[in-house]
Amino acid sequence: MTRLKKIALATSLAGAAALAGVAQIYAADAPIEIDADTFECITEMTPVRGFYVDNLLGDIAATLAVANSETGGTWPTGSVVQLVPTEVMVKQPAGTSPQTNDWEFFELDVSSGESEIVTRGFTDVVNRFGGNCLDCHVKAEPQWDMICETGHGCDPIPLSREMIVGIQQGDPRCNRPE
Ligand code: HEC
Repeated sequence: MTRLKKIALATSLAGAAALAGVAQIYAADAPIEIDADTFECITEMTPVRGFYVDNLLGDIAATLAVANSETGGTWPTGSVVQLVPTEVMVKQPAGTSPQTNDWEFFELDVSSGESEIVTRGFTDVVNRFGGNCLDCHVKAEPQWDMICETGHGCDPIPLSREMIVGIQQGDPRCNRPE
C-alpha cells in the first residue's frame, strides 16, 4: 500500500470510529416508559441466585445470559433487577446516562400492596436509609456493570441471606386476592 493510501485509510477509519462514538453518545433511543404499574410482586420475577430479574422489552433470555455469565458483561436494555421489593434498577437505552451505565434507579413504596414510585433517576436517588444507589453500585468492578452481589467489589450490606429471603417473601404485593 502506498503511504498516501495508508493515510487515507487511517483517516477514514478514524472518521468512522468518531462517527460511531457520536452515534453512541447522541443517538440514544427514547427512554423506556416506566410507571408504578411497571413493577410487580418480586417473587413473580425470574430468580437468579439470590435476586430477581425481568426484561421490559421481553428479551428475558438476553438478560439471563448476562446475569448467568461468569465473566459479566453489559446488561441489555430493558433489564430489571431487584434484590428487595423497594429497590429497582432498570437498564435504559445506551447513551441515556453514561454516569450510571444507563441504569435508572428506583426507590418504591410497596406497603399498600401496590407499587408507588418514591424516587427515580440516575445519579441522585437515595434509598430509605439515606444511601445513594450509585455511590455503592459504582464500586462494582467494571465487568459486572454496577451489579454488586457479593464479591464484585461493592461494600457489603448488613443483611444476611435469610433476612433477604424474608424481605422478598414478605413483599405485600404478592399473593393478593384478585
Ligand atoms: C450501602 C450501599 C448500597 C446502597 C446505598 C444501595 N445498594 Fe443496592 N446493593 C448493594 C449491595 C452490596 C448489594 C448486593 C447485596 C447482596 O447480594 O448481598 C445490592 C444489591 C442491589 C440489587 C440487586 C443486584 C445487585 O447489584 O446485586 C439491586 C437491584 C439494588 N441493590 C438496587 C439499589 C437501588 C435502586 C438503590 C437505591 C435506591 C440501592 N441499591 C442502594 C449496596 C447498596
